[in-house]
Amino acid sequence: MGKKLQGRVALVTGGARGIGAASAAALAAEGAAVLITDVLDEDGERTAAEISSKGGRIGYRHHDVRDEAAWLAAVGEAEKRFGGLDILLNNAGIFALKPMSETTIEEFRHMQAINVEGVFLGMKCAIPAIGKRAQQWPGGGSIINLSSVAGLTGASFAVPYNASKGAVRLMTKGAALECAQLGYKIRVNSIHPGIIDTMMGQKVMDDLASTGAAGANEVRANMIALHPLGRLGVAGDIANAVVFLASDDAAFMTGSEVVVDGGMTAR
Ligand SMILES: NC(=O)c1ccc[n+]([C@@H]2O[C@H](COP(=O)([O-])OP(=O)(O)OC[C@H]3O[C@@H](n4cnc5c(N)ncnc54)[C@H](O)[C@@H]3O)[C@@H](O)[C@H]2O)c1
Repeated sequence: MGKKLQGRVALVTGGARGIGAASAAALAAEGAAVLITDVLDEDGERTAAEISSKGGRIGYRHHDVRDEAAWLAAVGEAEKRFGGLDILLNNAGIFALKPMSETTIEEFRHMQAINVEGVFLGMKCAIPAIGKRAQQWPGGGSIINLSSVAGLTGASFAVPYNASKGAVRLMTKGAALECAQLGYKIRVNSIHPGIIDTMMGQKVMDDLASTGAAGANEVRANMIALHPLGRLGVAGDIANAVVFLASDDAAFMTGSEVVVDGGMTAR
């Protein structure tokens, strides 16, 4: 069977590690050329080298998603290096676990700047480039935004994160409708992971353990118990959904929220 994404070009933010790195590898394995961007340059270069050693067409670029000029430059590099842009994975994001009473307004705004403004800028800057070639693919161009189960349901001690991921969920639907109405042939969908065993997932568990309410093993067992399928997610679980949404298999999906949470929110 042919590769699903042969000829496509993808830009993956926060691609140095975790879900972004696994998704970049999965997109490359399906034939896409991938530009990964991040602020962790050493990790980003290493991830790109690993994917390249398996035959992937890939590059790494330093890029803070809060910076509009850096977005335009990153989109420009994807076009110059690989000939265009077809897929944007807005994956870069941060998390913090803190009661509201201890959260400063600066910390709240910092999270929105990365998790919300970064996604807005990504869509704004990439849509003109993706639109140039979208008509040539049966399923058009594809933008995939990383939200969370925390964009669907509340989470104590994560109110700024709830705000940001709820915003990503509805920005996705607004952008999906706008692209459809303007005839761009660009689909826009969100993914809502449960707890995924990445550095971010581990930090959630470390932060919970550091409150002293439970030991590290108990915290992990409690986190697993939130997922009816009986395990935490792995980055590859999300990468599989990314490849699906990026591909023509998802040609009739836009404005959708794809929940990949081991059943957590089915309860
Ligand atoms: N791990 C989970 O449990 C989980 C659950 C639901 C949703 N998510 C979401 O999935 C996405 C990826 O999470 P992950 O688990 O791989 O996290 P991670 O912390 O392992 O990776 C996130 C990446 O984003 C990068 N990043 C942070 N700020 C940036 C900025 N300003 N500009 C560019 N890059 C920046 C980081 O350097 C890092 O490489 C995030 O949006 C996260 O909110 C994660």
